[in-house]
Amino acid sequence: MAENSISRRDFMRMGAGATLIGSSAQVVLLEPAKALASPQPIPPSDRLRFASIGTGVRGCEDLSTALRAPGVEMVAVSDLWDSRLTAAQEHAGKKLDTTKDYRRIFDRKDIDFVIVATMDHWHAKIVEDACAAGKDVYCEKPMTHKVPEGFGIIGAAQKYGRMIQVGSQRRSSMLFAKAKEIYESGALGQVTAVEAWIDRNDSSGAWVYPIPPDANENTIDWQQFLGDAPKVPFNLKRFFRWRGYSDYGAGLPGDLFVHLLTGIYTILGLEGPPQKAVSAGGLYRWKDGRDEPDLLWTLYTFPGMTVSIRCNLNNQSQGETTRIFGTKGTLEFQDEESATFTPEDTRPQPEQYSVESWPKKLREEYWAKWKQDHPAPPLDSVSVLEQVRTYRVPNDYDEDLAHMENFLDAVRTRKPCDEGPVFGNWTAIACHMANYSYFNKVEAVWDEQAKEIRT
Ligand SMILES: NC(=O)c1ccc[n+]([C@@H]2O[C@H](COP(=O)([O-])OP(=O)(O)OC[C@H]3O[C@@H](n4cnc5c(N)ncnc54)[C@H](O)[C@@H]3O)[C@@H](O)[C@H]2O)c1
Repeated sequence: MAENSISRRDFMRMGAGATLIGSSAQVVLLEPAKALASPQPIPPSDRLRFASIGTGVRGCEDLSTALRAPGVEMVAVSDLWDSRLTAAQEHAGKKLDTTKDYRRIFDRKDIDFVIVATMDHWHAKIVEDACAAGKDVYCEKPMTHKVPEGFGIIGAAQKYGRMIQVGSQRRSSMLFAKAKEIYESGALGQVTAVEAWIDRNDSSGAWVYPIPPDANENTIDWQQFLGDAPKVPFNLKRFFRWRGYSDYGAGLPGDLFVHLLTGIYTILGLEGPPQKAVSAGGLYRWKDGRDEPDLLWTLYTFPGMTVSIRCNLNNQSQGETTRIFGTKGTLEFQDEESATFTPEDTRPQPEQYSVESWPKKLREEYWAKWKQDHPAPPLDSVSVLEQVRTYRVPNDYDEDLAHMENFLDAVRTRKPCDEGPVFGNWTAIACHMANYSYFNKVEAVWDEQAKEIRT
């Protein structure tokens, strides 16, 4: 340090060296909110009966989650592969009314709601049919496969007075609610940047699921699977590894971006689709016939902030995170179970960089005046690190259950769900914008008046 420059001790007293003094982050265990589902026995008149449509990986998880809530009974299932009709009954622990034609479910008057967990290209049609039949719907994310479908679903929910919960569970998570509270308290200051990613590096993470030995044209209703998608010959990879094909899914955005976006929208209270999206990436490794990329990086523009989202199926060293950068602090999620708030050290500091080039006399005068204008805070109160907090959910916390209970409460009370179709449409459109930009090699712009993506 130059002879006449400010001493290290002085510098610390002025606050600039505060990060050297801190203690490690305090961990705050979040308290679960009172369970929505009543712990009291549910009277028979309030029991809810449901059917599941699409009981693959997620459909079986969803039905099991619904059955953990009190006063809920499963009575029917629809799926296109015989073995999934069997799997659903095993998960329900009882014999169910089974069908490959989901419309038959809507003939039953005793069903209050349906869970829709099919491939994405079937969501909109089934949800609209369910609304018209007077059923409430828990629909898996992403809500839609194509932009116009979202407005159709919103219209159907309004027309038939139905409750729809879209299945991005972060929307009901106590951790994201805490993060929202931190943001709304002003602790982050002005947020201008967010970055988030989910990275993986294994065949399951890249959607290369095993093909079951009993799957064939007799056990799977292939024509029904295709629905409105282009007619192609029977193909087991397309049926079981559908996420790789844009005919049935929305690729990395529909599978993974949507979770990150749901969290970001929830914390920051974002409304509406992003203004713009620019994507880059490619299909670099998993060239097994799919048309979806295995790396996608999208920069979104929202009013007053830029959001960067990445999913990489070729390296998992960075795992998963969301980071929210504000002028007063940073909130970083380690995973879905914990998040750390770190304040920025924004206390005033004497300018050093340019002042070093001043003549000695001027420098000393500047520093002397600065010290006079900024009385030193006591040393034991200057550590920014002491304000670092890690928030953690309890070990047995289940955000899937919280999201399902929120839906069941809405079905019973007719109070809006945490993630109704308007919200589900915003994040779905954000996914479609990422894909539009990638596949068309253009900047995707949301046209609010025309309700469509344009260049
Ligand atoms: N919220 C989450 O964390 C989460 C996790 C995984 C999947 N998902 C979503 O859940 C949905 C399903 O994903 P998955 O991994 O369970 O897929 P999957 O392939 O394991 O299961 C989909 C099932 O839907 C059935 N199906 C398709 N069209 C049908 C129709 N018209 N009628 C009846 N059944 C039909 C298929 O036969 C298949 O068994 C997707 O939209 C996916 O994005 C959400």
